[in-house]
Amino acid sequence: MRTHLCGQVGEADIDDTITLNGWVLNRRDHGGVIFIDLRDRSGRVQVVADPDFPAPFAVADGARNEFVLEVVGKVRRRPAGTENADLATGLVEVLADEIRVLAAAEPLPFQMDDEEIGEQVRLRYRYLDLRRAPMQHTLRMRHRVVSALRAYLNERDFVDVETPVLTRSTPEGARDYLVPSRTHPGEFFALPQSPQLFKQLLMVAGIERYYQVARCFRDEDLRADRQPEFTQLDIEMSFLDENGVMGLMEDMIRSLFREVLDVELPNPLLRMSYREAMLRYGIDRPDLRIPMELTELTDLMGAVEFKVFSGPANDPAGRVAALRVPGGNDLSRAQIDGYTEFVKQYGAKGLAYIKVNDAAAGRDGLQSPILKFLPDEVLTAVMERCGAKTGDVVFFGADSARIVNDALGALRLRIGRDLDMVEAGWKPLWVVDFPLVDWNPEEKRWDALHHPFTAPREKDEALLDSDPGQVLSRAYDLVLNGTELGGGSIRIHRSDLQQKVLGVLGIGEDEARAKFGFLLDALRYGAPPHGGIAFGIDRLVAMICGVDSIRDVIAFPKTQKASCLLTEAPSEVDSRQLRELALQVRKPRAE
Ligand code: AMO
Ligand code: AMP
Repeated sequence: MRTHLCGQVGEADIDDTITLNGWVLNRRDHGGVIFIDLRDRSGRVQVVADPDFPAPFAVADGARNEFVLEVVGKVRRRPAGTENADLATGLVEVLADEIRVLAAAEPLPFQMDDEEIGEQVRLRYRYLDLRRAPMQHTLRMRHRVVSALRAYLNERDFVDVETPVLTRSTPEGARDYLVPSRTHPGEFFALPQSPQLFKQLLMVAGIERYYQVARCFRDEDLRADRQPEFTQLDIEMSFLDENGVMGLMEDMIRSLFREVLDVELPNPLLRMSYREAMLRYGIDRPDLRIPMELTELTDLMGAVEFKVFSGPANDPAGRVAALRVPGGNDLSRAQIDGYTEFVKQYGAKGLAYIKVNDAAAGRDGLQSPILKFLPDEVLTAVMERCGAKTGDVVFFGADSARIVNDALGALRLRIGRDLDMVEAGWKPLWVVDFPLVDWNPEEKRWDALHHPFTAPREKDEALLDSDPGQVLSRAYDLVLNGTELGGGSIRIHRSDLQQKVLGVLGIGEDEARAKFGFLLDALRYGAPPHGGIAFGIDRLVAMICGVDSIRDVIAFPKTQKASCLLTEAPSEVDSRQLRELALQVRKPRAE
């Protein structure tokens, strides 16, 4: 078959007769002469079919886009003036002696070089979509990223261990995908939401340094950065504390960025407490590329007449905060109304604002429907604390801390994007000192903020009984440009403490035994102190490739509705299969 790759034909090959294999990227009939851009994995080269050679000319004439050809021909310099400087092979072309059709292609469902192909059709014909240069690039980049990460870990004595996919439920907070068991009618496997429990068992087993490029399954509401099955770089280590884990992991990420992007990330990475992240950004994965922060005002508003502010200011669970938008005075009434609607999605009841027309003119320089409710000294303190300047607008949120953080945190991101304030580059940080648990008002119970195997800080253990909400955990998240790339923790390695934490989460002894008995047992047989982390490979590769959706870095992703348009999975199964599994399907009633 071929002697050369299309993208590598160059001046050195001039006058040589070579053989190429590839796809017809396009075919141009220039009245007599036919040009074909032939493409393979390496790139493309121009093939010329001249009517003076009737046999190859006839084949070229009949060829269409995406036909697979074999071309034998002589490399020659392109005539002066017809070179293409944008192309690696732009100085040469191949004059065809022979062309063979290895496979024909039907008319395509989309043009391969179209930049706006609908995602539905791309996913339906994914094998064609993946032939396109941008997808070839992301798949190769994904491979480079995973190879670099593996190499880093292999060099440091980590062992790659596979863990089961047919297993029991692992609580990471999503719904499980279930698989019915034929041999145990009425019983089900769960697909793992992560290998969490197995990697901890591997530490009990003395592996000490484990990693796995592991598929995880979570039946949750999908977004651009969430898939029902996704890939983690899953890591666990023994005899290290949180500084040890974070230190090694940030070194790994730094060397990855150096290798694949030639980017030098800060050393050490910034660390920020959860509390500080919430106060300054309203979110536990702050995007530090946006130069705006929330300003705390709760302490200033306790005595003001304006109930919208004084109510939350006097409520222990309340918060009053501001977001100053530099240069935001230009926002129109309609834009501000739009933002008011936007924050309502997060539960906010309104979005008070003050426009700063002249910062030096005191009250007279300000413009706002709420000015009349705020006394001079409060107004001055607010403007000072926000650092308000002429031309700014200051937005206010007053409600439960949760709503204020959600609303202003999201507004900060939205306005940052709308006003083009997102700086270029990479802003990684560790978020640390998370609370261990979070109150779930609907279920009226404490939920684990990470997962139930995360260790509390030693000095907070006593608070587990008296005030669980105050206990901080030994967890850490790696955040990059507002995306949570990875998260992990030092684990509980004592059976009694594990049992106790499960108790705080409302999981009684019987339930704990039934669900995690094997872990509780293992922790009684000499479990080393251990901890680890998991990185979302899809998210990491998407960021490195600069694409918005992780679907663009997964060869065969699911749609937002968790289906596969290519294979049409999920699908019905025949009644015999159901009978074997002792299952009966009850169709949901049409709505
Ligand atoms: P966690 O649940 O935080 O931790 O997951 C780790 C990382 O996986 C990525 N991720 C996802 N990516 C795509 N689609 C999804 N649905 C999805 N869900 C999560 C994120 C996230 O940071 N067992 C623990 C890790 C540990 O404690 O070691 C765990 O799974 O980038
Ligand atoms: P009202 O007194 O309800 O007309 O509100 C006056 C201003 O406060 C309007 O700009 C509202 O959008 C805003 N507002 C109302 N409730 C809140 C709230 N909880 N947080 C922030 N602003 C609010």
